[in-house]
Amino acid sequence: MIEYRPLRIALLGAGSVGSQVAKLILENKAELAARVGAELELAGVFVRDKKASRDYEIPAELLTTDSDSLILGADIVIEVMGGIEPARTLILQALNSGSDVITANKALLANHGTELFDAAEQVGAQLYFEAAVAGAIPIIRPLRESLAGDKVKRIMGIVNGSTNFILDRMDSAGLTLEQAMAEATNLGYLEADPALDVEGYDAAQKAAILASLAFHTEVPLEKVYREGITKITREQMAAAKRDGYVIKLLAICEAIPADELGGEAGISVRVYPAMVPLEHPLASVRGSFNAVFVEAEAAGSLMFYGAGAGGIQTASAVMGDLVSAAKRHVAGGPGLADSVHADLEVLSISRVKTRYQITLEVSDQPGVLAQIANVFAKHNVSIETVEQSAKMIEAETVAWLEIGTHQASDKDLAAVVAELSSSESVERITSVIRVEGE
Ligand code: HSE
Repeated sequence: MIEYRPLRIALLGAGSVGSQVAKLILENKAELAARVGAELELAGVFVRDKKASRDYEIPAELLTTDSDSLILGADIVIEVMGGIEPARTLILQALNSGSDVITANKALLANHGTELFDAAEQVGAQLYFEAAVAGAIPIIRPLRESLAGDKVKRIMGIVNGSTNFILDRMDSAGLTLEQAMAEATNLGYLEADPALDVEGYDAAQKAAILASLAFHTEVPLEKVYREGITKITREQMAAAKRDGYVIKLLAICEAIPADELGGEAGISVRVYPAMVPLEHPLASVRGSFNAVFVEAEAAGSLMFYGAGAGGIQTASAVMGDLVSAAKRHVAGGPGLADSVHADLEVLSISRVKTRYQITLEVSDQPGVLAQIANVFAKHNVSIETVEQSAKMIEAETVAWLEIGTHQASDKDLAAVVAELSSSESVERITSVIRVEGE
């Protein structure tokens, strides 16, 4: 029997996610009430334009342009407007008045998370954000709760669907980056500012959120190393395929133990395209799907896979948070702040070691291979594999070299590339790319 008073839900935003959230609250009223132990009453939906056309027709009497009154009377506020302002101000207003808040806003959390979490803690409210990373995929709650007693060692995620779609089309259909981007644009996969996707900003925001939960450490967005996919060529993709790899844009969050750093332990949070072996579970993530591969000390390897975007899919994650928030309201007690007790150093990329593959065209003369190997040795980069073949360029034979390295620091590798670029024996460096997941 339901005895608790109805809970008033304020919805801020009625775009592709918001209108689906409204639909699910209104259409599943009885089921939700039974699950929560209180009715969930959609008190109103804050919109900028009441007349705009929407995926789901929200009853006109629920639409309002008065956010103040809506937030003031709400028990739980759901923010699905996106963008920094006015979302930030409205969420702070809601938290300061004691409401729990659910948000899908990764940019806001990555840029102003500390301010929002502090505001929630001050009043004992809770901020939920399952929908902010990887859409429908449950990954925030597993990190926050299911793995809270374990130690996460590493997360490797494909957390941006549009770049995964672009790279997948380059791999499976042999398209150029421009052709694949045009397809993604036509399908409406890219953000209004495509740089957010293709330059890795969106993935970096998500990496910052995942790393802060996994390692109990505040991770400022500016400490996340970021490279996008705009320099990836069809030739690199084809060469990777020939060698048994696929190129993916990865968000990597990694705990680096003290003994590897020769000092205190730290974490690395980075986004870049890398070659992933075809046997790795992330290699099979196709199209615009997302996946997050987590390695934990006791649990071992876990993979979370599904739709990373989409109105109804993202609304599913928001609804999960809504049920949790509503149940907490019924049970009573203050919200639980996420711990940032570990306070680990977020390492600069120059201190992180990864494997690389470098492809270059060199003159086919005696001693050239030895000269090139020397450049690697001089900068302390150990070669693991070398493959050589002859290639005709403008009626001249050059040697084509594909060099795989052992773990090397970004700084040392950059020194190798700089010296090779100015070497007279090197005609062209055609590819420098990291290798991950082996
Ligand atoms: N632009 C994002 C993506 C949308 O492509 O995954 C979901 O955050």
